[in-house]
Amino acid sequence: MNAQFNVPSTIIVAGGASQQLAAQAARLGGRRALLVTDATLVASGLVKRCADQLAAADIPATVFSGVKPDPTDENVREGLALLRKENCDLVVGLGGGSPMDAAKVIAVAATNDAPLREFAGYHRIARAGLPLVLIPTTAGTGSEVTKVAVITDTGRDQKMMMLDVHLLANVALVDFELSLTMPASLTAHVGVDTLTHGIEACVSKKANGLTDPLAEQCIRLTAANLLTAWAEPANRPAREAMMLAACLGGMAFANSSVCLVHGMSRPVGAVFHLAHGLSNALLLPEITRWSLRGAVARYARIARLVGAAADSAPDESASASLPVYLEQLNARLGIGRLRDFIHVDQTVFEQKLPAMAEAALASGSPQNNPALPSTDEIVALYRRVW
Ligand SMILES: NC(=O)c1ccc[n+]([C@@H]2O[C@H](COP(=O)([O-])OP(=O)(O)OC[C@H]3O[C@@H](n4cnc5c(N)ncnc54)[C@H](O)[C@@H]3O)[C@@H](O)[C@H]2O)c1
Ligand SMILES: [Fe+2]
Repeated sequence: MNAQFNVPSTIIVAGGASQQLAAQAARLGGRRALLVTDATLVASGLVKRCADQLAAADIPATVFSGVKPDPTDENVREGLALLRKENCDLVVGLGGGSPMDAAKVIAVAATNDAPLREFAGYHRIARAGLPLVLIPTTAGTGSEVTKVAVITDTGRDQKMMMLDVHLLANVALVDFELSLTMPASLTAHVGVDTLTHGIEACVSKKANGLTDPLAEQCIRLTAANLLTAWAEPANRPAREAMMLAACLGGMAFANSSVCLVHGMSRPVGAVFHLAHGLSNALLLPEITRWSLRGAVARYARIARLVGAAADSAPDESASASLPVYLEQLNARLGIGRLRDFIHVDQTVFEQKLPAMAEAALASGSPQNNPALPSTDEIVALYRRVW
């Protein structure tokens, strides 16, 4: 085995864990906090509750609520300017993957004087950032426990994937009660993102003995709870299980890797402005079907974990049942085909494909897939999901 494993040094998983924000911020020595979030969470009252909690502990919080879904370099620069203006010395990311990723990059940009583009890629951040607390409200990306951030480069319409140990939070507060307000479509999209993390971490060429148990438990929990959380938003056990699954999936993929689905999904998101979880979900069944050839035994194991194949089924037939299961899951969650969600003509879609395939390969993620497609094969795969 040859593995490196990084997670935040403190991960608190509990209903009500977010109420420990002020105590954790004080423990980290924070005196003024920048609370990075988005407008929806301000409107829900959650941001005020967190800011009040910090203020009561003598840690005044400045709220930066300008993060857009799939955050941009501009969002990060705006948050950083506010942090500097208010002399904040601690960053709190509160929300889905978008505010958490923006908070991560604001925290390192405060201590690393370099253009954001220079953070893109693997291990490109020289110094540790400001102390960082992350609180997820979707279940989800697992970003609260990953050393990864994805920021859109608006100049090039590309998603910059940044992976560095300096992007890790000091503390992750994983509180499923914050996810109870998610509407059904959001639950579906972020839930399939979680499942994709588990599956890709498991089949990745970088899968290892530390990440396999986490990936497998992520897959098991998602298969057993996503449909319930989607159909019954107030179902606390299902929400709790999905929040845990997201956290496990994050730890797994960040220390194994994501693969072809995420590699191909980022250009779809960047070019057609489709939410991350939804674009993954639309790609997952077909990309899985194409990738089976590279890891039949692993895909068969996943098929058994989700209940798509009997324990006694031979690997060939068990693995073949997985894409069918994923198609049926999408159908039940109301996730159709790509053309139902991107409102462009098929000829416009076709024109974009060669550049999207190049961008997918350039991201590095497809190289961890059990089978590596050529640029032409990626174009053909995009056509299949259209
Ligand atoms: N860093 C990582 O490890 C990692 C992993 C996967 C994805 N990502 C990134 O995460 C981003 C996507 O994050 P996301 O899918 O969590 O969505 P998001 O953060 O973009 O949020 C989507 C919408 O859901 C709303 N929302 C959030 N929590 C809610 C709640 N509890 N109730 C009601 N509405 C709520 C938000 O206000 C927003 O309008 C993408 O940019 C993606 O690239 C990062
Ligand atoms: Fe993801």
